[in-house]
Amino acid sequence: MDKPAETLTSDRVVLRRWRTTDLDALDRAVSESLDHLVPWMPWAADPGRQRTAGFLAHTHEEWETGQAFGYAITVDGVVTGSCGLHRRIGAGGFDIGYWLHRHWTGQGIATMAAGALVRQGFRLAGIDRIEIHHDAANPASGAVAARLGFTEVGRVPAPEGPAAPGEVGLHVIWRMTQDQWRARDSEGARSG
Ligand SMILES: CC(C)(COP(=O)(O)OP(=O)(O)OC[C@H]1O[C@@H](n2cnc3c(N)ncnc32)[C@H](O)[C@@H]1OP(=O)(O)O)[C@@H](O)C(=O)NCCC(=O)NCCS
Repeated sequence: MDKPAETLTSDRVVLRRWRTTDLDALDRAVSESLDHLVPWMPWAADPGRQRTAGFLAHTHEEWETGQAFGYAITVDGVVTGSCGLHRRIGAGGFDIGYWLHRHWTGQGIATMAAGALVRQGFRLAGIDRIEIHHDAANPASGAVAARLGFTEVGRVPAPEGPAAPGEVGLHVIWRMTQDQWRARDSEGARSG
């Protein structure tokens, strides 16, 4: 199976495949950011070192099976968040997830990370679309998609309602096609 590179670079952001030795750094990033994560990330309601270790083990397995490719978002070697390409939207597609440590927001880091994932995702065989899904009450997440040039293609009620306390239970779906991404890249190249 076609797999992505284990390290991706975009501007000052380096994404690298999560490894089990990241336990301390990831656990610290989560525990220092709980107030900012709990409204949107269902897993943040029940944090802890064991759960973090479980996440790293699961992420390793998903990489091996090709179900998802999870990366640490790093800046100058410091773990600043997490992101990944997931096969949750059917054949030919990936969706992207991300979160940042609360101290690293507002600097374009999530946008750079998601951009690196899109670039890599479209290099994998058979991928023709990449989506970002978020709750309608979470515009900061949608702004990442908008900054990268994704198009909002729909709003769908979450079948089981809100999954985290900040959510209203309405999924906003943003999409980028392979053709749109190529056009955007060549536009960027033309304008220098
Ligand atoms: C969603 C989340 C990752 C977005 O983080 P963010 O900091 O807003 O996004 P970025 O890192 O791309 O930073 C964008 C900001 O940096 C600014 N910025 C500075 N330099 C920039 C650059 N080179 N490129 C892009 N943006 C830049 C942007 O103008 C923007 O500022 P604004 O917030 O005042 O509009 C963050 O809010 C988060 O972790 N939330 C909790 C978890 C979550 O909701 N995850 C998503 C679930 S669907």
